[in-house]
Amino acid sequence: MLNNKGFDLWADGYDKSVGVSDEDGTYPFAGYKQILNEIYNRVLTNKSKAVLDIGFGTGTLTTKLYEQGCQIWGQDFSGRMIELAKEKMPEAKLFQGDFSKGLVDELKHHRYDTIMATYSLHHLSDEQKICFIKEILSLLRDGGCLYIGDIMFETWAELEKYKTLIGEEWDDDEFYFVVDELTKFFPQMKYEKFSFCAGLLSIPIRASRDF
Ligand SMILES: C[S@@+](CC[C@H](N)C(=O)[O-])C[C@H]1O[C@@H](n2cnc3c(N)ncnc32)[C@H](O)[C@@H]1O
Repeated sequence: MLNNKGFDLWADGYDKSVGVSDEDGTYPFAGYKQILNEIYNRVLTNKSKAVLDIGFGTGTLTTKLYEQGCQIWGQDFSGRMIELAKEKMPEAKLFQGDFSKGLVDELKHHRYDTIMATYSLHHLSDEQKICFIKEILSLLRDGGCLYIGDIMFETWAELEKYKTLIGEEWDDDEFYFVVDELTKFFPQMKYEKFSFCAGLLSIPIRASRDF
């Protein structure tokens, strides 16, 4: 599992390596650009203003929303990723912190129209994911939505199938989403598949807050 220093080292070459994997349609980033575009369109369609990005990386998605006038908050543990994102979004409120320990205090005091996490939460164990998702859902305004775009499989059987097919390149240190498992905890969650290894989860918050 990469720690913050590992991400610091990857930061300057990150966009390029992700782009190559996505364009080749290979694990792990097949479907990446499509997922980010989809979230971008939905955030603007919903007229979201306040956006929180968990593990924003180089700010690929949030920079586009920033340029459209969204107010951006974010948390990432890599100092270099934060520097790169900050250059593109000087007014964004970007904080350094390890989300396996929860959100930093500064982010807990706001409410958001959209919270998003793309290709970041697979660094949490399955149990940690559930706790953390509950924590961030509580920060959404009524009518808001949480989007999780990531490496994801519908069932354990599907994950195992691709693990075998991908072989040595499969990263055993990461905890990919299994949709069937999460549905039990978040029944209002919607899943959309974007490639053999990637999907988008949306968890909307209704006025009744039924979670
Ligand atoms: C694969 S990158 C994804 C970046 C961006 N969201 C995207 O879609 O391109 C994962 C990001 O999550 C951050 N990250 C990973 N584990 C983290 C943790 N435990 N706490 C905070 N940030 C973390 C990394 O520093 C990195 O910027």
